Amino acid sequence: MTQETRNDANQRLTDLISRHKSGFGLDGGFYTDPSIFAADLEQVFRRHWHCVGHESIIPNPGDFEQFKLGGESILLTRDRDGSVNALLNVCRHRGAKVCSEERGNRRVFVCPYHAWSYSNTGDLRSAREMPADFDRKEYGLKKLNLEVVEGLVFVSFASEPLDFQKARDVVTSAFGPHGWGDAKVAHRESYKITGNWKLAVENYVECYHCGPAHPEYSVVHSSGISPEADKLAADAMQDRARAMGIAIPEHDEWLGSDTGQEAARCFRYSLVEGAVSGTSTGAAAAPLMGSFETYDGGVTSVHIGGTSFFIGYPDYGVIYRFSPISVDETEMELIWLVKSDAVEGRDYNVEELTWLWHVTSKADKKIIELAANGVCSRYFEPGPVSPMEPYQLKYTEWYLKELSLPEVSNS
Ligand code: FES
Ligand code: FE
Repeated sequence: MTQETRNDANQRLTDLISRHKSGFGLDGGFYTDPSIFAADLEQVFRRHWHCVGHESIIPNPGDFEQFKLGGESILLTRDRDGSVNALLNVCRHRGAKVCSEERGNRRVFVCPYHAWSYSNTGDLRSAREMPADFDRKEYGLKKLNLEVVEGLVFVSFASEPLDFQKARDVVTSAFGPHGWGDAKVAHRESYKITGNWKLAVENYVECYHCGPAHPEYSVVHSSGISPEADKLAADAMQDRARAMGIAIPEHDEWLGSDTGQEAARCFRYSLVEGAVSGTSTGAAAAPLMGSFETYDGGVTSVHIGGTSFFIGYPDYGVIYRFSPISVDETEMELIWLVKSDAVEGRDYNVEELTWLWHVTSKADKKIIELAANGVCSRYFEPGPVSPMEPYQLKYTEWYLKELSLPEVSNS
């Protein structure tokens, strides 16, 4: 980007931010302008931690899986000692992609170009015919910062990553009781959305649309008949959880990066009376996980950073991860978790397990794409946010603040 282009982009960003009206949605330019997308990647995306999945996808030493994040190819590897690494799949010689396989098991990655070879911790093992003073230690594959908590793998591109401790505490206190550290992936599904990533995330954090867009979801999830009824149901749910020794603390302090800490949120809500899990009928879908001895009729919801969201029922979990691809393309991946020793066909059926969130996600893709169409219109003006969209409003305000913070340095 030339200095002139950068100045133009900064000016457009400043104009958009100054036009924003508190209590209203974002202006169309935030979703359609490529220079704002570039700022999003630098200022928001690369600053935060992102969940890339569950470590059970690489259970054995030498296992690896390639994934894409923020336009980069990354190798998630399990080394001999059992630890997990996130290696940039970019050779330190002339930049060739070191590994093109999606997944597999390897002790060594050999670059197909000039055969530099790397261990699965990223160390450069050998480089042909290099001078005697060539120091291999200087040329290992670059690594992303990585945290594993309750089996969930988080990575960050920032050279000085945000403090993850608060997020770690929230995930541990939420999904420790759900037994996610002893889970396995039952199914994964990727939804390619033609729309800006913020449209997808804003849609995730509000449920104003759940009534009209998700009749299947509304069969089992609380429909918000009245705040008093919701509170009574939630209290009854917490009593049932406490009887099993489960107390999952709520956390609603959604911090900005200026605090140096990663943002984390946890809340619980109850299913409709008689429902015990997120399925077509509200019936159970899989064996109970973690400390749950019976169903408490509740759902645990956790948000971490700007792109990672989690839903826990007593018998299964869902990881929701959003990955921006371009200004108008987003990947939304869902990963379903069950107890590690649950057997498909005997203890759970993938179609039953995934039905509700698959139907819900297909509907979300449709409504997000409708919004993506509308925000391009020259007649689009952001409307007021409903009181039923509190987190959407908080997310928008948080995003604007993140964009205004000084530039982040990336590894
Ligand atoms: Fe990988 Fe040359 S680019 S060894
Ligand atoms: Fe939805």
